[in-house]
Formats: sequence, structure tokens, C-alpha cells
Amino acid sequence: MAVETAALPLQDAGTGTSRIETGGTTGSAIALSHISFAYPDTLPVLHDLSLTVQPGERVGIIGHNGCGKTTLFHLLCGVLCPTTGEVNLLGRRLVPGQFYPEVGLLFQDPDDQLFSASVQEDIAFGPLNMGLSPEAVNQRVQQAIQITGIAALAERPPHHLSGGEKQMVAIAGLLAMHPQILLYDEPTANLDLRARRRLIQFLQQSSQTLLMASHDLECVLEVCDRTLLFHQGQIIADGPSRDLMGDEALMLSHGLERPYSLAVGC
Ligand SMILES: Nc1ncnc2c1ncn2[C@@H]1O[C@H](COP(=O)(O)OP(=O)(O)OP(=O)(O)O)[C@@H](O)[C@H]1O
Ligand SMILES: [Mg+2]
Repeated sequence: MAVETAALPLQDAGTGTSRIETGGTTGSAIALSHISFAYPDTLPVLHDLSLTVQPGERVGIIGHNGCGKTTLFHLLCGVLCPTTGEVNLLGRRLVPGQFYPEVGLLFQDPDDQLFSASVQEDIAFGPLNMGLSPEAVNQRVQQAIQITGIAALAERPPHHLSGGEKQMVAIAGLLAMHPQILLYDEPTANLDLRARRRLIQFLQQSSQTLLMASHDLECVLEVCDRTLLFHQGQIIADGPSRDLMGDEALMLSHGLERPYSLAVGC
């Protein structure tokens, strides 16, 4: 079960940022402290982000195109190095450039993730690099194939698959790593309704810590108890998903719309 978010957003004096009292960073899965980031020769993309996520929480990240969601995920798995600030994962300071098998990132574009000759080999790549025995690797691969429902694709070359098929294969590769922290970047992009529903049901049952960046606000509502609203590289609001996304004025003023299911009171 995800940890329940306890309180309504609180307004931070001075910054206009709404925050939930998280009870500190002790024992947290993710702790960001004053993170800022700029790509080379660009203006800063992320500005002074501080955030704590407790183990088992499922947190949605919403916000306009280019607000920094994917950049944050790349910082969280050590692909990028913050300009200032500190990232702690599972109580340890993250060192950019190191391999963290406990953190799994689903890339926004599955073509960035898939490169092996067959789907099966692609899913096995992560577990093999963790030094597992061939039997353990095979067991994880079969389990991930079964969860994602892609048995029919197992022998196919990933580059011949459709967009939605590639997305499911990329998710299977992620699951086979058994990460404790999962970062899903637009997981429902490209999926048909049945595959999307299957993924939502799977994510709802997930006990791992999960961050999901998505423009599919209905999916975020169904999966995540807590949501962060990003705008121009800052966390503008942090609170229970239904309260935050149900705040029409807040959503509209940051280029978003209240999800249909909240507008009609589902
Ligand atoms: N490699 C890069 N070099 C320079 N600027 C970049 C690079 N990658 C991203 N950016 C810029 O950083 C900003 C944040 O991009 P990012 O991909 O994190 O946004 P996002 O919130 O994930 O957007 P989307 O909703 O479109 O996926 C954008 O202005 C983007 O143009
Ligand atoms: Mg993105």
C-alpha cells in the first residue's frame, strides 16, 4: 500500500509553494535538498527543488511541456549531476555516474532504452549486468514477460515493434531489475486502452516507491495518492492528487486542466 498523504497542501510563506508536511527525511526513499540544474550553455531548468518521498509512496508529477520532469528523473538515477544541492536515495547520497540497480527509469522514448537483437535479450540485459545466475535471469525475464503480457513478442527484434509494443517491452525490462524505486516517464504514452488499463492495475498493486511523470492525468489520479505540480522548473504544489488536480484555478493558472473525472464528480 502507498503511504497516505496526511494533510492538505500548506502554503509556504514567501515562495507561494504548497507543501505537505512529510515528517522529515529519516528513512525516506528519496530526499532532494535544494537541487538546481542547468544543461550546458542554457538557463537553469530546475530551481531549488526540495522533496521527500517515503518508501512505498506513489507520487505523480504533472506540469507543462519542458517544465523539467524528465530532467528530474535523469538527476534521480545519476545520469545528470545537479548544479547545486544533494540527492539521497534510500538513505545514501547519490553519486552521479554510478550504476544504481535499486533505481529503475522508464525512458520517455522507448527507443532510448531498447537496443538488443530480441525482446527477450533486452529484458535480460539489466539482470545479467547485476551478476545474477542464468537461472535467476531467466526467471526474472519470464516473470516480467508474463506481467506485461508480451509473450508473443519475446523473439522479435525490438526495433520492428510498434510504439505501444516497445513501451511494454521497456516496462518489462524495468521490472526485471526489481528496483526499489521506479521512475516512470510517460508510461501510458502510445498504449492502447487495454494495455493502459493493464498497466494502471499493475501500478496500483505495486508496493515499490514510484514516481510517475505524465500528461495522462486520469492515470495519475488512479495510481498516485500524492501529486507534485511543476511549473518552469519549480514545485508549485504538493498534495493529495484529487485535491491538487481538483483545484481548477490552480490547474488553469499553470497551463493545465482539471481531469474530466473530477469535473463531473466521478
Ligand atoms: N540535453 C539538453 N540540452 C539542453 N536543454 C535541454 C536538454 N534536455 C532538455 N532540455 C531543456 O530542458 C527543459 C526541460 O526539459 P524536460 O525534458 O525535463 O521537460 P519535461 O517536463 O519532461 O517535458 P515534456 O512534458 O515535454 O516531457 C526544456 O526546456 C528542454 O528544452
Ligand atoms: Mg519529459
